[in-house]
Amino acid sequence: EMDRFVNDLLAKMTLEEKIGQLNLLAVGFDVTGPVVSKNVDENIRQGKVGGVFNTFTPTAARKLQEFAVNNTRLKIPLLFGYDVIHGHRTIFPIPLGLSTSWDLTAIEKSARIAAEEASADGLNWVFSPMVDIARDARWGRIAEGSGEDPWFGAQVAKAMIKGYQGNDLTQNNTVLACLKHFALYGAAEAGRDYGTTDMSRQRMYNEYFLPYKAAVEAGVGSVMTSFNEVDGIPATGNKWLLTDVLRQQWGFNGLVVTDYTAINEMVAHGVGSEAEAGELALKAGTDMDMVGEVFIKHLGRSVKENKVTEAEINQACRRILEAKYKLGLFQDPYRYTNESRTAIIMQPEFLAAARDIARKSMVLLKNKNNALPLKQSGSIALIGPLANRQRDLIGNWSAAGDWKQAVSVEQGIRNVVGNKVKINYAQGANIADDEQMIKRLNAHGGNLDIDNRSSAAMIQEAVRVARSSDVIVAVVGESQGMSGEAASRSDISLPGQQLELLKALKKTGKPLVVVLMNGRPLALPWEEQNADAILETWFAGTQAGNAIADVLFGLYNPSGKLTTTFPQAVGQVPLFYNHKNTGRPFGGDLLDKYKSRYLDVTNEPLYPFGFGLSYTTFGYGKPQLSKTAIKAGESLEVTVAVKNTGNYDGEEVVQLYIQDLVGSVTRPVKELKNFRKISLKKGESQEVKFAITPDDLKFYNSALEYVLEPGDFKVFIGPNSRDVQEMRFSVQKN
Ligand code: IFM
Repeated sequence: EMDRFVNDLLAKMTLEEKIGQLNLLAVGFDVTGPVVSKNVDENIRQGKVGGVFNTFTPTAARKLQEFAVNNTRLKIPLLFGYDVIHGHRTIFPIPLGLSTSWDLTAIEKSARIAAEEASADGLNWVFSPMVDIARDARWGRIAEGSGEDPWFGAQVAKAMIKGYQGNDLTQNNTVLACLKHFALYGAAEAGRDYGTTDMSRQRMYNEYFLPYKAAVEAGVGSVMTSFNEVDGIPATGNKWLLTDVLRQQWGFNGLVVTDYTAINEMVAHGVGSEAEAGELALKAGTDMDMVGEVFIKHLGRSVKENKVTEAEINQACRRILEAKYKLGLFQDPYRYTNESRTAIIMQPEFLAAARDIARKSMVLLKNKNNALPLKQSGSIALIGPLANRQRDLIGNWSAAGDWKQAVSVEQGIRNVVGNKVKINYAQGANIADDEQMIKRLNAHGGNLDIDNRSSAAMIQEAVRVARSSDVIVAVVGESQGMSGEAASRSDISLPGQQLELLKALKKTGKPLVVVLMNGRPLALPWEEQNADAILETWFAGTQAGNAIADVLFGLYNPSGKLTTTFPQAVGQVPLFYNHKNTGRPFGGDLLDKYKSRYLDVTNEPLYPFGFGLSYTTFGYGKPQLSKTAIKAGESLEVTVAVKNTGNYDGEEVVQLYIQDLVGSVTRPVKELKNFRKISLKKGESQEVKFAITPDDLKFYNSALEYVLEPGDFKVFIGPNSRDVQEMRFSVQKN
């Protein structure tokens, strides 16, 4: 049916009309890159546009859709895209925070709600999920993904795609998802955004590719190319990547769009002229040109000069028309522009879901002597630049979210405990104190609201407030603009005078609870040593303050676990749990010289992958394997009893890791292969059972064949990647 429709339409189209479909323009409502498209309306009327992004509301979308449908010869409707990344109007935690919930159902629901709101708001295409594996805490966009683990990233990718696309894209409440950034964007050298990546195919296939491949298998409708090069060729012009791997090996049949001006940027990469870059991109398998207008400017001539064929243009155009067909736009171009549907936006049920997942995303990193939860009585010194601020809470890429609707921590505490607790507030420090940094952040919407008093005076005031309170809650961290796109940092400690503030507060002797807001793993050695409690809250979204208060006062028992390793020092990054062993692994003895190590710091993280505490405690029994030897192709089971041994009901993420001890290519020391998030009442225990399947034991060998090599394996079970119990089994030759 679709084939016939698209073939008929293509047959009617002129070359110019076809090239027009390959053009995606930014309407200029929001700026998400350096150039903003001009004369969009006129271009649409002339049939030179296949889709637009950075505009929304049914009224605005309808107006542009009418230009396309009423003014062009073939009445082909437009796609309407937008960066709906962690919610549309109801904003959920930043993606890194969503991932630390380890709750795939809640993650899927967040994407479902985002799709409901976006589709009610004129949109039919979202530039999400971002599934780039990131192991370098300096990289600002680590905030936008699901962390460092490929297998886990794949599970999150699948959940989000299901949430966005549902089972039927023609419904008016589902949207086309866009897997990004293909590929390896998260592996930029030195964590510098847009930087070069260079890695072995081994590492691509066994690690970085996993979430992309899983997303394709989950039926994602579109893919965005990345800015970086892959194997020496910019991703946007990389035929091996976009055609051989994506389409031929993985069977992707949707549309490939570039990132913002990525074709133009191939000139700076050094591939040739703009026209040549366009030819390379098209031939590589790119279908749609985001903002750069290279296709529309040059492809006509490229056909005449026989540099590209009309068949290649047909192919790209076909994929765009197919996406429109799948969305039902040919049946009804106004399917997503129904004003009355906007009533669903930010409805109470959506806000409740945002509060729920925000609480689940928070990671309790330390809790000495049960400093948390706080009593619902007495007084709190609520201190810090993020303590009564709304502006940063919805985080980066917060789409159409309105920070003024975000609940601050102070407001959240008042909502949760009313007047039962006295709040004594002091700002204590600015988020940043370096003038140049402040200027840079403010130039891009940072609005840091800097307090011009001296740092000493601000700290003094905070100390006074602390002295007259029972407990200190210090809400510190980064501004939202310090992570995200084009926001890499070479120093990943608390910015500005915030550490000085904490040190001064510590001297008061009052219990010090540190509430963190940040978009990346931070290096927090002093904080770990000195704070009584540390709660990582990321940027928790519209309901941030309510969710934080729920956790602080024990209305919700924290259950989040890290999906990125927290280093002791920035010099350790990239630091990740699933590394290789090397020939000289370091055992931890600092006098042991000729080992893979540093002179001044151990290789240990501050907090390992998978780590997170609870107000209760969990006891793990001795795990049991159903067999200690299997034949290749067989499965086995591992069972472990987990008991809630503390004083609160709680949730635990039981994690299973595997190591292949001997391989034709070296294998990581540990790889996450499964997990279960369970809920246990105080005193309750549960037997958790995992199947270990052949797929869990396979990897890509040096010929890039996906194989299971017989031999010995270790299985690890535990509450995080470090504190595990291990067992062994072997796979025998058949
Ligand atoms: O979707 C984004 C991408 O992640 C980064 N560059 C701009 C795109 C569109 O805004």
